[in-house]
Amino acid sequence: MISLPTEKFSNIDTPFYYYDTELLRRTLEAIVKEASQHPDYNVHYAVKANANPKILEIISSYGLGADCVSGNEVLAALESGFPASKIVYAGVAKTDREILIGIDHDIYCFNCESIEELQIIQELAAGRSKKVRVALRINPDVKAHTHANITTGLAENKFGIPMSEMENAIALTQQMPNIEFIGLHFHIGSQILDVTDFKALAERINQLQEQLEPKGITIKDINVGGGLGIDYTNPEANAIPGFKEYFAAFSENLNLRESQQVHFELGRSVVGQMGALIARTIFIKKGTSKDFCIIDAGMTDLIRPALYGALHKIKNLSSSAETKHTYDIVGPICESSDVFAKSYEMAETKRGDLIAIMSAGAYGEVMASQYNCRNLPKGYTTEDLI
Ligand code: LLP
Repeated sequence: MISLPTEKFSNIDTPFYYYDTELLRRTLEAIVKEASQHPDYNVHYAVKANANPKILEIISSYGLGADCVSGNEVLAALESGFPASKIVYAGVAKTDREILIGIDHDIYCFNCESIEELQIIQELAAGRSKKVRVALRINPDVKAHTHANITTGLAENKFGIPMSEMENAIALTQQMPNIEFIGLHFHIGSQILDVTDFKALAERINQLQEQLEPKGITIKDINVGGGLGIDYTNPEANAIPGFKEYFAAFSENLNLRESQQVHFELGRSVVGQMGALIARTIFIKKGTSKDFCIIDAGMTDLIRPALYGALHKIKNLSSSAETKHTYDIVGPICESSDVFAKSYEMAETKRGDLIAIMSAGAYGEVMASQYNCRNLPKGYTTEDLI
């Protein structure tokens, strides 16, 4: 579980993110151990989950590749030590500048999301006299059992090329002299805890391979995206996600052809549990029907509760009081949705108490905004506080 050195927090301006790098390393060791059981598995880290440079450096040192969704993420990954040969770049609308960043740095592959994009990549690659590797992102129309805002693999979502267009798109790549078609890419959604969703994806990929094979189309790489969820309710007991079961969902269900490689793009499961948002209690305000615990972190620092109704476990770090009290835990932003938890039972809290919002290492700091002219929260790692 994450270890929070509360004694070192008292002199730091709140709110801030704290990252337990020891837990991060243990998580990475678990990933490397489980993935290495499968020699044809390649794990990339989805930079969008947490792009803090110190975190990226640690992750790249474990040999993972990087999954990027913008030109700036490609640059951040390169700066933090990810080799270009292990960078994959997806994104539903890449600008010419962003595509050129990928081409000029010779990244491993573009995960291309439309025929329109394919044509632009061809043009830009020709302009540089280069041949670039491309995988086609296919929308597999597989339902992931997760929040509607974070499913991506349904026909109604904007992502990827529809299955009905797949053969046409592959045929086009074969006529493009500056494009090397290397495989198919998928991603069905995020925070998926039911591994049968991954089994369903594997089965869909099997069908697609069977459809393509008689036409002489070979797939070198299969990229199954990310999506493995974490336990927000009980982060202490389940600090390291079930990577073994996750990889098994593919090794038991995905039929690989000789020398085929499988790529993964894990984000939340790598960094989610190693981070906490640390805030200070400003007031305990007595309302007519409830008490509010108002803290100095708001939806500008962690937007997940407001945007997805996500519930993160919350702890009072300053009090070990046996007496519990029920609060609505809210931030200072002028928005009614600036609420972290309603009717939440926590140790009796007073002004000045430090509060930890748990499991905030993924999609926390990266999604912060400056609404209300607020400062962006800083991120500190274990090493920063020594
Ligand atoms: N690959 C692609 C193409 C993706 O779009 C994503 C996430 C990932 C990999 C990594 O997925 P993960 O392993 O982290 O589930 N802000 C939301 C999550 C958005 C996920 C976007 N795509 C949240 O806070 O829940």
